Amino acid sequence: MATQRLGIIMHGVTGRMGLNQHLVRSIVAIRRQGGVTLPNGDKVMPDPILVGRNAEKIAALASEHGIERSTTDLDAALKNPADTVFFDAATTQMRAELLSRAIQAGKHVYAEKPVADSLDKAIAVAKLAKAKGVKNGIVQDKLSLPGLRKIKMLRDSGFFGRMLSVRGEFGYWVFEGDWGQPAQRPSWNYRKADGGGIIIDMLCHWRYVLDHLFGKVKAVSCLGATHIPNRVDENGKTYAADSDDAAYATFELEGGVIAHINSSWCVRVRRDDLVTFQVDGTHGSAVAGLSKCFTQHRVNTPRPVWNPDVPQSMNFVDQWEEVPDNLTYENGFKIQWEDFIRHVVAGTPWTFDLVEGAKGVQLAELGIKSWQERRWLDVPDLKI
Ligand SMILES: NC(=O)c1ccc[n+]([C@@H]2O[C@H](COP(=O)([O-])OP(=O)(O)OC[C@H]3O[C@@H](n4cnc5c(N)ncnc54)[C@H](O)[C@@H]3O)[C@@H](O)[C@H]2O)c1
Repeated sequence: MATQRLGIIMHGVTGRMGLNQHLVRSIVAIRRQGGVTLPNGDKVMPDPILVGRNAEKIAALASEHGIERSTTDLDAALKNPADTVFFDAATTQMRAELLSRAIQAGKHVYAEKPVADSLDKAIAVAKLAKAKGVKNGIVQDKLSLPGLRKIKMLRDSGFFGRMLSVRGEFGYWVFEGDWGQPAQRPSWNYRKADGGGIIIDMLCHWRYVLDHLFGKVKAVSCLGATHIPNRVDENGKTYAADSDDAAYATFELEGGVIAHINSSWCVRVRRDDLVTFQVDGTHGSAVAGLSKCFTQHRVNTPRPVWNPDVPQSMNFVDQWEEVPDNLTYENGFKIQWEDFIRHVVAGTPWTFDLVEGAKGVQLAELGIKSWQERRWLDVPDLKI
C-alpha cells in the first residue's frame, strides 16, 4: 500500500468556514487519520500550504495545526508545480478571479460556494476550467448533513409515496451588535458592496438540495427583505446593513413538487434545529434537522379536530418516530474533501463541479430578479 502526497494551496483559512470546516475538521482531520484511501487501497496525504495576508498570523495558524508551510505570496504558491490543487474559502467577491488565476496556472480548483457573485462570472470560470481540463469542485455540504441523508434514504426506499411539498425553515437571530450582544456573523454578509445578502448566500445551497433530493428547480418566486437596516461591525462601528437579511422563496420542481424555503437572520428559533425540512408525501411525511429526522407514516397519521373552544389535547410533536442512527455520519465538509481528493488523484466520479456551482448562482440571481420585478421566473437549463 503506497502513500502519495497531494500539495494543496489553501486560501481564506483564517475565516470562519476556512478555519473550522476546511482546515480543522477536514484537512487536519484527514492528515490525522492517515490520509484519504483510494479505490485501489493506496493513500493520499494532503500537504497544504496556507496562504494569508498576515505572515505571522498564518504561520502561527499553520504551526498550531502541525502544518509546515505557509506564505503571504499567492503568486509564488501558484507557480509551484508540486502543489496541484488550489482551494478558496475567502470572501465571495474575490472568488471567481482567484479561481481563474489558479486555473490559468494549471491548478485543479475547489472552493466554497458561491462560485462567483454573478452568473456571468460563474459561467466564465466554469468554461475556463473546462477549456484547461482541470478538475474542479464547489462545496455543496448540506447534502452530507445526516438529516438530509436520512431524507434521501426515505425517498429511495419509497417511504413518501408521491412527494407533494417541501417546507424549509433556515436561520436564527443574528444580533445587531448595538445593545450588549456582539454580532455572531461577519459584517460583510450584511453589506451589498461587500458581496453580502442572504439570497446569494442561501439560494445556491437550496439549488443543489432541491435538485438532488426533491426534483430539478423549474421556477422561482422570491421575496427578499432587509429587516434590520443598521448593524454594528467587528470594530464597534455602526454601518448601513443594506443587503437582504431574509428571503421568502417558493420553487416549482420537476415532477410537481412545490418547495417553500424561508431563510432569515431575523428569526428566533422554535423548531427542532437551525434548519428544518418538512417533506410531505402521499404515503408519509418526514421532518429533518441538521442531524435528526422524524417520520410519520400514513397509518400513523392522527385525526386532529379543529375546535378553538377547547385547548389542544394532542401533542403533535410526540406523534413522530425518529429515524435511528444506523450509520456513522462524518462531517459533511470532510466527506466532500475526501471525494474531491479521490476524484483529483484517481479520477473517481464527482458531481459537484463548477457547473453545478454556477446553477446555484443562477438561482440566486433569478431569486433577486424575481424580488425586484415582483414575479415568478423560469429557471432555464444552464449550458456550459
Ligand atoms: N458552505 C457553507 O455552509 C458556508 C457557510 C458560511 C459561509 N460560506 C462561504 O464561505 C466564504 C467565507 O465566509 P466566512 O463566513 O468564512 O467569512 P469570513 O469573513 O469569516 O472569512 C473570510 C476570509 O477571507 C479573507 N479575506 C477577506 N478579505 C480578503 C482580501 N482582500 N484578501 C485576502 N483574503 C481576504 C479573510 O482573511 C478570511 O480568511 C464565503 O464565500 C461564504 O459564502 C459557506
